[in-house]
Amino acid sequence: MIKMLIDCDTGIDDSIAILFALKRPDVRVLGITTGCGNIDAYQAAENSIRLIHLAKPGYEVPVAVGANAPLVGPWEGPVPHIHGANGVGNAELLPADQKPAAEAGWDMIVRLARENPGELTVVTLGRMTNLALALEKEPALPRLVKNVVAMGGAVRAPGNVSPVSEANIAGDPEAADRVFLAGFDLTLVGIDVTGKTFLTPRHLDIAEKYWAEDCRPILDYMREALKLYFAFACQNNRYLDRCPVHDPLAMVVAVDPSVVTIRKLPTRVECGGTLCRGMVVSDFRERPIDAPFASICLDVDSERAVEELLGTFLKP
Ligand code: BDR
Ligand code: CA
Repeated sequence: MIKMLIDCDTGIDDSIAILFALKRPDVRVLGITTGCGNIDAYQAAENSIRLIHLAKPGYEVPVAVGANAPLVGPWEGPVPHIHGANGVGNAELLPADQKPAAEAGWDMIVRLARENPGELTVVTLGRMTNLALALEKEPALPRLVKNVVAMGGAVRAPGNVSPVSEANIAGDPEAADRVFLAGFDLTLVGIDVTGKTFLTPRHLDIAEKYWAEDCRPILDYMREALKLYFAFACQNNRYLDRCPVHDPLAMVVAVDPSVVTIRKLPTRVECGGTLCRGMVVSDFRERPIDAPFASICLDVDSERAVEELLGTFLKP
């Protein structure tokens, strides 16, 4: 059983990743912490609570609001043209009675790590601000958690918010660099692999035929939420009726790393400059820079990853 904490900025792709985790029999989600990114940290928490209500995992999942700004400077605001005004593609999720937890997101990370020493998998689907703040409170965090799986970065592929940087890392490079330097067992699932793994409307049609009855509401939600995401992917990248699978792929890697090809490389984040700020720098040279090694995902069996993702919702 994977004991998991999800840290996210609950947008469209985050939501699919969360639903996947909540439906996995081999995963127990101990908590969800939110930050700003696709949407503000408060709306991200509200979306997460409504997703738990939709997935009905059969156990309680506390949700804590985290950082609503990066470590340095202000947050540049939400991205309604990608994730809709509410962060989930303007899809209407039913409200739930659950309220956000009284503790802050970074405190929840520290608490769950201390309560489950050596057992917690932290999956970050947004900026690494909450994890960096948790690290500040508990410097032993890299030894307390089992591992971190992070969606972020573009090591060899082009970036998605600048020529060389990806949104989650570029949104808070200082936080990401602190996390890279801390010595976590860290796997980075970046655009190199998420940018060549796609969901299409055909996948949703197949789901219509084969998914379990209790997953119907999830499928209805995904159809609604993904409309905007497909349209953005088409306009922005000329992807015809397909969208890249960012956060859900990180979640698949967290439960089954065999879908990706990994290379351990010394890795830092560029925190200066203008064009390269937020770039993930992994050193492939024989005599590399002196930095902790991160597991960098360089290739992926996309078909198997999508099967793993969507197959989770099948009839038993
Ligand atoms: C990442 O940025 C966010 O928009 C997505 O949710 C994903 O986590 C992709 O660069
Ligand atoms: Ca995200």
